[in-house]
Amino acid sequence: MKRTFYITTPIYYVNDVPHIGHAYTTIACDALARHHRMKGQKVFFLTGSDEHGEKVQKSATQQGVGPRELADRVVTRFQGLSPALDITNDDFIRTTEPRHYASVQELFRKSLRNGDIYLGEYEGWYCTPCESYWTDLQLVDGKCPECRRAADRRKEPSFFFRLSKYQRPLLDHYRKNPSFIRPESRRNEVVSFVEGGLNDLSVSRTSLSWGIPVPDHPGHVIYVWYDALTNYITGVGYPDGGERFETFWPADIHMVGKDILRFHAVFWPAFLMSAGVAPPLGVFAHGWWTVEGQKMSKSLGNVVDPYEMVETYGADAFRYFLLREVPFGSDGDFSRKALVHRINSDLANDFGNLLNRTLGMLGKYFAGTVPVPSTAEEEDLALFARATETVRAADAAMENVEFHNALSAIWDLVKAGNRYVDASAPWVLAKDPAKRARLGTVLYNILEATRISVLLTAPFLPGAAQKMWEALGCEGPVAAANLYEAGAWGGLRSGITLPKSAVAFPRIED
Ligand code: MSP
Repeated sequence: MKRTFYITTPIYYVNDVPHIGHAYTTIACDALARHHRMKGQKVFFLTGSDEHGEKVQKSATQQGVGPRELADRVVTRFQGLSPALDITNDDFIRTTEPRHYASVQELFRKSLRNGDIYLGEYEGWYCTPCESYWTDLQLVDGKCPECRRAADRRKEPSFFFRLSKYQRPLLDHYRKNPSFIRPESRRNEVVSFVEGGLNDLSVSRTSLSWGIPVPDHPGHVIYVWYDALTNYITGVGYPDGGERFETFWPADIHMVGKDILRFHAVFWPAFLMSAGVAPPLGVFAHGWWTVEGQKMSKSLGNVVDPYEMVETYGADAFRYFLLREVPFGSDGDFSRKALVHRINSDLANDFGNLLNRTLGMLGKYFAGTVPVPSTAEEEDLALFARATETVRAADAAMENVEFHNALSAIWDLVKAGNRYVDASAPWVLAKDPAKRARLGTVLYNILEATRISVLLTAPFLPGAAQKMWEALGCEGPVAAANLYEAGAWGGLRSGITLPKSAVAFPRIED
């Protein structure tokens, strides 16, 4: 196993406040970061904000403020997602920070020096009111696709990145690293795109001033995607190098939405190769959410606010729903009904109930003291085997970035725990003093299966898992437990006294 793990979210545009799509990527990264920490790896988890470029400039102008002022205001809404959603990022990078200017300019300079970035002329359809260039394909009936006014043919001097030169190296890189782009269907899309040929890419603008200046060419600002992608190396200390860079670069996973895969899987590795920096090890593209069957949009008024979700349902339930409902990589539909259903059936009925009924019986039959297990019977052995297999299956699913499969394996264990209770009927055993030892064994086993389930849910339900962990008398933060050590059967200590019931998941009335 690799000793380190570096994971990143995209950096979010500060032209508008966060919605479910932003929360989704960040939560997915957080679950992975937590899982890898529990495997004993040294983890670095980076998120941040994308503050330059036309989008932010335009939105600021519309609101009658400067772009910096807008960024300063909106960025707090993104930073606030971490405490609200229980996100454990190690750093939050803003592209307006001096460390990032130094990094972008250094990377750019490297390619300027070796001739991969050269001065040319950019030509396109320019809409003056929108201050935007459009391609032939983007125009609608020959007009600006945004304001529907006439666009003029216009040229401006621009620096270009020699992307065409990297067609072969990129295809070789994809071939040699089959898991560089995941899921596989997305990989095939990217490969066909690159096989179709690559044009050099315009990487500077003179028509915009809100950005990082091209070194030694103050009239040009660096293209916002060149600037933004570079955050992933700035975050670990580029260009100064140092221990963090040595330890964590190349990143293990850049997690992105499917709409921005091309930037990450084509442009970014090419920029890095040109500058002599290793490309990342992997890019994973996830799907998009619709809301109650419709595309999410401001005009429809159906934008899902993550803060509101946390207030109404709690961070654990929201996190759980997003990662359980849809196979990661596919598109999905968000609905309150589906969310409430998951809370009631999976969290309250299956999981919460397992813990509560077990603690209830322990209180009633053993005054809350965890018994010493004796001889294991066949059904006991089946439960241990299931628990051990679940640790392996959940770990394997997480390695494949299949959250839904990890959770469904964990829930199979939870359900097996509930079936074990029903089948061994402690309330019947309790009536017969001769069965006292058997009753103790059964209760120990259920508690132990519950403990292992709680351990495995910690990356997904950090708040609830911690409370349940404590209710089972386990010491320290569950987030700091080692998956393999704490996941081994028999970790629960006999002889300690547990409370009668625990805070589980309350049912929600539909
Ligand atoms: N700033 C760029 C990323 C630069 S990374 C070097 C950007 N920002 S964004 O704020 O517009 O979007 C960030 C992420 O949100 C993207 O990964 C995008 O896929 C995701 N989503 C936006 N809407 C979404 C849904 N409706 N559903 C799921 N994810 C969505 O792009």
